[in-house]
Amino acid sequence: MKRVYFLLAITAFGMNAFGQKTIDQKVSELLSKMTLEEKVGQLVQYSGFEYATGPQNSNSANVLNEIKQGKVGSMLNVAGAGETRKFQELALQSRLRIPLLFGQDVIHGYRTTFPVNLGQAASWDLGLIEKSERIAATEASAYGIHWTFAPMVDVARDPRWGRVMEGSGEDTYLGTQIGLARIRGFQGKGLGNLDAIMACAKHFAAYGAAVGGRDYNSVDMSLRQLNETYLPPFKAAAEAGVATFMNSFNDINGIPATANKYILRDLLKGKWNFKGFVVSDWGSIGEMVPHGYAKDNKEAAEKAILAGSDMDMESRAYMAELPKLVQEGKVDPKFIDDAARRILVKKFEMGLFDDPYRFSNEKRQKEQTNNQENRKFGREFGSKSIVLLKNEKNILPLSRSTKTIALIGPFGKETSANHGFWSVAFKDDSQRIVTQFDGIKNQLDKNSTLLYAKGANVDDQDGSMFAEAVETAKKADVVIMTLGEGHAMSGEAKSRSNIHFSGVQEELLKEVAKTGKPIVLMINAGRPLVFDWAADNIPAIMYTWWLGTEAGNSIADVLFGTVNPGGKLPMTFPRTEGQIPVYYNHYNTGRPAKNNTDRNYVSAYIDLDNDPKFPFGYGLSYTQFKYADMNLSSLNLKGNQTLKIGINITNSGNYDGEEVVQLYIRDLFGKVVRPVKELKGFQKVFIKKGETKTVSFTLTPEDLKFYDDELNFDWEGGEFDIMVGTNSQDVQTKRINWLK
Ligand code: NOJ
Repeated sequence: MKRVYFLLAITAFGMNAFGQKTIDQKVSELLSKMTLEEKVGQLVQYSGFEYATGPQNSNSANVLNEIKQGKVGSMLNVAGAGETRKFQELALQSRLRIPLLFGQDVIHGYRTTFPVNLGQAASWDLGLIEKSERIAATEASAYGIHWTFAPMVDVARDPRWGRVMEGSGEDTYLGTQIGLARIRGFQGKGLGNLDAIMACAKHFAAYGAAVGGRDYNSVDMSLRQLNETYLPPFKAAAEAGVATFMNSFNDINGIPATANKYILRDLLKGKWNFKGFVVSDWGSIGEMVPHGYAKDNKEAAEKAILAGSDMDMESRAYMAELPKLVQEGKVDPKFIDDAARRILVKKFEMGLFDDPYRFSNEKRQKEQTNNQENRKFGREFGSKSIVLLKNEKNILPLSRSTKTIALIGPFGKETSANHGFWSVAFKDDSQRIVTQFDGIKNQLDKNSTLLYAKGANVDDQDGSMFAEAVETAKKADVVIMTLGEGHAMSGEAKSRSNIHFSGVQEELLKEVAKTGKPIVLMINAGRPLVFDWAADNIPAIMYTWWLGTEAGNSIADVLFGTVNPGGKLPMTFPRTEGQIPVYYNHYNTGRPAKNNTDRNYVSAYIDLDNDPKFPFGYGLSYTQFKYADMNLSSLNLKGNQTLKIGINITNSGNYDGEEVVQLYIRDLFGKVVRPVKELKGFQKVFIKKGETKTVSFTLTPEDLKFYDDELNFDWEGGEFDIMVGTNSQDVQTKRINWLK
């Protein structure tokens, strides 16, 4: 097929054109041959017909015809070596034989699924995160996929928002580092390699700040806040060479992101000099009509292309309207040329003009299906994403020879729920998933017994299954309760106003607790949940998110101590929904409360403590880490000096373990108020029991910069607190003076 295509290419562009010209020249040459409709065709993306990741609008016969006519540039939700080949064959029937790009949501793994992204972020392990995306890219590319709609780098401070599961949590610095690791993982050694797929920084921008945590809702914030908190992961992604960006659904200060010239033209394509292309989100061009920003699809298409949205995902507005808009003189054709150029450049970079079928390879697909190496990695990654929240009297780890263990809760024997939301390609995969029951059973001694009772379905409203669960608990020496929210209760369009365990699970827990048996609670969720009663009354709690294909094994590795948990929360856990939004890097206000009992004319609720249930960065280990001898290279610095910070950490417990050491600063006074703490660095260190390690950080004035009210990005001399600790609350502090 490669040969055939090559011959066609010769006729289309002339033999000598290839191999000698730059991609830009090749694209110019191609553009010069294209009609306006063909150019607009490159800007069109449709979804395949087997499944949809948005409100589907497909008329399949038309789509197939349009592909043959060169009126489609890309498809999403078409996957598999065979399927992608079929669609590509249609595209090669078009006049200029321009290949299609195949995009898909490869969000937390592909054939091997890994923890949901928020769980991955809890590992604070950039190496593991990068590797997981490397594997995802290798698997996805073998299934014919060229492009993933990931990473989602939206900072999110509201756990009611269902999409927190897809991001890296509330912190800009952590989120930026993780976003970069993901891009490195997806794009590997560079586009054009067979195992590299294009990444997509989404959702541009501020999607995570939707009012009230309600998905797709508006965002109204100062440009200072936007630039300081929400845009840095995007800016870093652009600078790191991410291939594409995706618009967000929300409006920002009254202008939908899809037509927002400030973020798209001024920042992204202007100041940040981004050379890739921007895809709309599903239908987000057409949605500017209900937003009230365009009177019809025509005006929406005009506004989107002028602002800098290059590809139309499923609005079906560009092909219908852009040619007319150009003919009427409303859209300068240079905007169409620029968008088409950006997309064609990527097709060349991916090598699709050399061989449009190079990713559609059955043999590679087979090798990547159920690949044991990838599963092994998934097991490790799963265990390292677990966060130990509580472990009174060292109940954990459990002994493998515990005589009888009871596993109780709706998730014990679940299969596909362990994938979590956004695992669109795995409909047929349930038999590959290691259930929690099997994972635990496989690691128990032969003479021990594992009992099981479901106790409740995820959304039950009555306790009809409680009695059996209580009876089962009574027979056990230890009870493992596996509770949480349903796997499809977090994700896109999955905002919740009540973020407790769903249904009657909390009542189930209370009933089982009455037996007096020691309980280990595992919480399955895609977001921080509220579980105040459990946190106060259950002695051992681990947060297990959704861990993917190997969930049961990862969980058992931690329960029985093969792996010592080292995860840390990437989001603050609230006491109640009424405390939301609650995040660690807030401002101080003019009347800060000194403690939880101080509520007199201070910034507090009269009926609720100010501090969260579990702070950002929090997580325990089976061992203990003692921080001592914090040491700064100087307490008085000037100009472009570097501050060196060292601290000794001793593993004083009984297990080897990993600790995430966190560095925060506070700029005490400024032209604009500064957060009480800002994460500026972290290191994950492995320390053997009994050993001490010195962990060092450096800070330069670059780390002190912030946006002022005129959007200047600079630092100011003055006093700073330097803080190092095991989480955002528990830190050691030294004050320095740093003059400009
Ligand atoms: C809508 C989601 O917001 C986006 O993240 C996703 O990539 C697209 N649908 C495609 O599935």
